[in-house]
Formats: sequence, structure tokens, C-alpha cells
Amino acid sequence: MVVAVITCGSKADHNVVSFDKNYHVTWGNSHVTSVNQGTEVHLRMDKASGAGFESNVGYASGFFQIKIKLPNKDFSGVVVAFYLTSDPDGKGGNHDELDFEFLGSNGPPFTLQTNVFANDEGGREQRFHLWFDPTSDFHTYGIVWNQHQVVFYVDKTPIRVFKNNTKIGVSYPSQQLVIQGSIWNGETWASGGRKIDWSQAPFVASFVGFGVTGCQFQSSASKDQCYISSPKLWWNGDKYLGLDPAQRKALQDARTKYLYDDYCSKHAHIHQECQINKNTS
Ligand SMILES: *[C@@H]1O[C@H](CO)[C@@H](O)[C@H](O)[C@H]1NC(C)=O
Repeated sequence: MVVAVITCGSKADHNVVSFDKNYHVTWGNSHVTSVNQGTEVHLRMDKASGAGFESNVGYASGFFQIKIKLPNKDFSGVVVAFYLTSDPDGKGGNHDELDFEFLGSNGPPFTLQTNVFANDEGGREQRFHLWFDPTSDFHTYGIVWNQHQVVFYVDKTPIRVFKNNTKIGVSYPSQQLVIQGSIWNGETWASGGRKIDWSQAPFVASFVGFGVTGCQFQSSASKDQCYISSPKLWWNGDKYLGLDPAQRKALQDARTKYLYDDYCSKHAHIHQECQINKNTS
């Protein structure tokens, strides 16, 4: 109840914030169009290029949400992504990353893949079939990241929890993260061998909701401020230390119905969180 009120309260502002306030284009400039006074951005992919954007600053905790509408045609082989990363330039190193990746298809079922990297340990893909048509309307995709947990949300439904299990030796995202959004050629990556049908190009992904509810990373010293429970940082408050019973139920339901490919089913032995946290990690 309280959660819903908070979400609605910030949503109104969130949706009318213009892209330029918090983001900039990082690549494929000619493939980015801004509409509705800059509050909606279209990323376009054709044979020449895809496109991507990034937040102007880095964060150290928050509730990061955006609304996305996927290309409304056969976009097999195309990937649309919204994620947080400590390695925006792809330099490598011990990076942290929290991913939403939409794997293109020719109609339903539509696949959403999530992944978590912490201290460079990735390989934690979980794939869901979406229970709606993500190409016909905007839906909200959100990530809570605080000192206790990472929660992935689709609209109001939690679909995945990655807990801070550092006390049993599982790395947890702890570095400064920037927010990125992009559309790119995933033919050789996660398309399951499907080729892009270029006769369908351009492929357009639309983004809305450029308000950012996060604690800006300023220095290692200030980093702790971003983790501390404080009334100012509501995503660090009691409501977000763990899921409440209703949310746990929603999580279980979503996973029972829509999760169809889980790293924990395949590689549990190499990821310690799979052994203690079977249903949620
Ligand atoms: C993870 O939890 C530990 C306590 O178990 C805490 O000291 C640490 O700051 C947390 N990590 C992050 C990134 O919040």
C-alpha cells in the first residue's frame, strides 16, 4: 500500500522529465530522435548503426526505473537493453552490472533476460516470458539497489531478488553505477541463431521516464551515505530491506509462471547464492 503510494507519487514527475536533464547520447547520434519536448526518446537500429544513452552521473543506490516500448515488428536478433554498469566504456576489470535485456522475437512469447554481475562474476542469466505485449504499450522496468538487496521489477511485480550475501562470500554490486539504455545487433549474442530480417528495419525502441531516483556517487567517502537508511533515501528504508509477504507472493507467482531459464538450475554449483536462496536469487 505504502509502496504503491510512493511509486505513484514519484511517477508523475518521473515521466515528464526530459532526457537532457539526466542523460546524454553515447553512440549512434543520428539514430536517436527526441519527441514530446524531449520527454520521449526513440532509439533506432538499421544496418548502419544502433544507438545508446547513458546517465550524466554515477549512482551508489536507488530505485532506477524507465518505461520502454519495444519495436512492433519482427525484431528477431535485435537486443534492447536497460541496465546499470560500473564499466560504461567496456574497459573490463572487476565490474558490477544489473541488466534488463529484451531479446528480439517475431511476436509472442516475448523474452526478458535479467543478469547480475558483481566483481565480474556474471553468468547469472534468468529468462522470463512477459505476460503482456511489450511492443504495443510502455511498461515500467525498475531496479532497486540498496545495501540489502537488488530487486528487478516489471511494472509493480518483483521478478527477481539478488540479496547482499557478502557475509557468506558472494560478491555484491558496490561500485559507482551509471544507467544505460541501448538497441543493438544481438545476432551473434543471444538470438538463438536467429538472423535479423533487415527488410523490417529500422527497429525503434521508445523510452520515457528520465527522472532518476538515486543517490549520486560523489566520492568513496560519500558512498556510505548512499547506503545508509535514511528517511531521505526511501529506497534504503524498512520497506526495501526485504520483500513484504504480498511482494514475496507476487515474486513466487511470477517466477512459477514466467521464469523458463534459470542459471541456478544449470550452474548452481558455481554460484553460492543458488544454494541458499534457491527461489529468489
Ligand atoms: C553488504 O552487506 C554488508 C553487511 O553484511 C555491508 O557491510 C556492505 O556494505 C553491503 N554492501 C553494499 C554494497 O551495500
